[in-house]
Amino acid sequence: MKLTALDYLRCIHCANPVVLEPSYVTANDSDEVMSGKLECQNCHKIYSVTNGIPRMVDASISTAADVISGDVFAHAWRAFPRIDDRYFQQFFDWIHPVAPEFVQNKIVLDAGCGKGRHINVMVQAGAKVVLAVDIGGAIDVAYENVGHLPNVHIVQGDVANLPFAPVADFAFSLGVLDHMESPADGLVSMSNKLNENGSAAIWVYGRENNGWIIAFVNPIRLAITSKLPSAAAKLVSGLMAIPVFFYSHFIAKPWKDLQKSMPALPDLFYQDYMVYISSFDFTEVHHIAHDHIVAPLANYSSKEEVNSWFEKAGLPEPILRWHNKNSWAGFSSKNSQIRQIMRERAQLQSVSQKHDAPQPG
Ligand SMILES: C[S@@+](CC[C@H](N)C(=O)[O-])C[C@H]1O[C@@H](n2cnc3c(N)ncnc32)[C@H](O)[C@@H]1O
Ligand SMILES: [Zn+2]
Repeated sequence: MKLTALDYLRCIHCANPVVLEPSYVTANDSDEVMSGKLECQNCHKIYSVTNGIPRMVDASISTAADVISGDVFAHAWRAFPRIDDRYFQQFFDWIHPVAPEFVQNKIVLDAGCGKGRHINVMVQAGAKVVLAVDIGGAIDVAYENVGHLPNVHIVQGDVANLPFAPVADFAFSLGVLDHMESPADGLVSMSNKLNENGSAAIWVYGRENNGWIIAFVNPIRLAITSKLPSAAAKLVSGLMAIPVFFYSHFIAKPWKDLQKSMPALPDLFYQDYMVYISSFDFTEVHHIAHDHIVAPLANYSSKEEVNSWFEKAGLPEPILRWHNKNSWAGFSSKNSQIRQIMRERAQLQSVSQKHDAPQPG
């Protein structure tokens, strides 16, 4: 924890600033606080700092399901800690119409940072400050990966009870709200940490086109694979990744290329997503399969549901984009000019790439 984190940290119970008790220990006389205690100036709640990370989750106000998700994903990120150069492009593909220039010199908030891959992307894109939380042990992996980066503040925290002042210019949450008991509460909480012109972007699994996962894969995940010990989960997901890797690289991608000269050819099963992951190496496909089978809680949400979260969060006129025909990316801003700019960018893309959304339902 950097001493400058105190400018941003707030008590999760009463939203007041916290102070660092003088007995803290730093790493090699630097300003990196490795252990210590933070105390709320108002309600005097104490939060520990251990292994360089403020621990600001309180099980009495987080849902049990979210805490369990955090524990399970901690194993997942320890099994796949690698930060890959391709995450930059993947991130901006997920959250289009947000582009790298948008985050330059901004205070950004990564709600559910996992191993910290998007914190790294934010630093590469020129963010001024990056605030990040994860509810579980993934936060230690993030700290190891990117905790050393300047102006990055990594905190163990719950998206539903964010430990920050309302200063973020831009908050994003990728693949997290869909693992929370109440995705809407997660987005409301993110919105509450934005400044008056702040913007938010999310990406979650969609319900549309995922009926087969909901009907056939989810029951197996719930009954068996989410309960496997981590070594077994890694093995099973590795075996599952082999046909997925083969299908995406050697069938879906060449088929898509063939469609360019023969447009009458029909789409293959789950084609858009499979073409999308055909640019990934086997380790990344293995990781994706692993994520899918270990999650104890996974919501597959319809366009209408995602829209309703934005409404509840007071984030108007969200731009919702059906990503790879299996997930929803949503963006909104408290600033109407930013919304307008982003809407125009989104329309340009939908004309050039035909990202047509299905009718909800
Ligand atoms: C699929 S991972 C995505 C991580 C990251 N956003 C990424 O794309 O690399 C989901 C992460 O959300 C975290 N998570 C789940 N519920 C959470 C909550 N209520 N608050 C904070 N993090 C949460 C999990 O611990 C896990 O690391
Ligand atoms: Zn307090």
